[in-house]
Amino acid sequence: MCGSEHVSPLAPLIENNRQWSERIRKDDPAFFEKLSRQQSPEYLWIGCADSRVPANEIVGLLPGELFVHRNVANVVVHTDTNCMSVLQFAVEVLRVKHIIVCGHYGCGGVRAAMGSTELGMIDSWLRHIKDVYFRHREALDAVRDDSARADRLCELNVIAQVYNVCYTTIVQNAWARGQQLTVNGWIYGLHDGLVQDLKVSVSGADQLPPVYRMRAPEHA
Ligand code: CO
Repeated sequence: MCGSEHVSPLAPLIENNRQWSERIRKDDPAFFEKLSRQQSPEYLWIGCADSRVPANEIVGLLPGELFVHRNVANVVVHTDTNCMSVLQFAVEVLRVKHIIVCGHYGCGGVRAAMGSTELGMIDSWLRHIKDVYFRHREALDAVRDDSARADRLCELNVIAQVYNVCYTTIVQNAWARGQQLTVNGWIYGLHDGLVQDLKVSVSGADQLPPVYRMRAPEHA
């Protein structure tokens, strides 16, 4: 409207950004200038899109130190060109040394996958988590408490996604080239802000079931 001050609801965010940039440049005046020339993160983070699980903050890393891919319930699907493109770039161009799949307890996506309500578009995405449930149905059904069962599925989902990362030719070709690369599974607690290592680190194709192991075709 003419003459009246229109303040955007996003104005506080722009102001926060200005202060953040200023704070960082106070410690290191050339910080952004250096970063704009190149990034060389050692880690790829594959996490949930949940707003309560901010990758960089949780592990105390600055811009430039963590390559990040997030989606609902940190699912890694080999036909997902988005996730596969991130993975390829991280492994082949940035040459990250560690991939961290980080799930979290109380994940809404995982909980939704345990239910039977039709939710629309996301149903086909959550199907991947239902498949994890089905694979472990006996152990999961034996957990009587609903939220304990959901939390166990959150852990099993992370482990399944760690393996899905390893089953890609992107990761297996890196290992075949002798590239040092470990794939790890973590879970984050919303209630205490702490990360727990699920101890499923994989660092070579010999740790994978034979049917998933890939090698380059032999040429005559
Ligand atoms: Co989540």
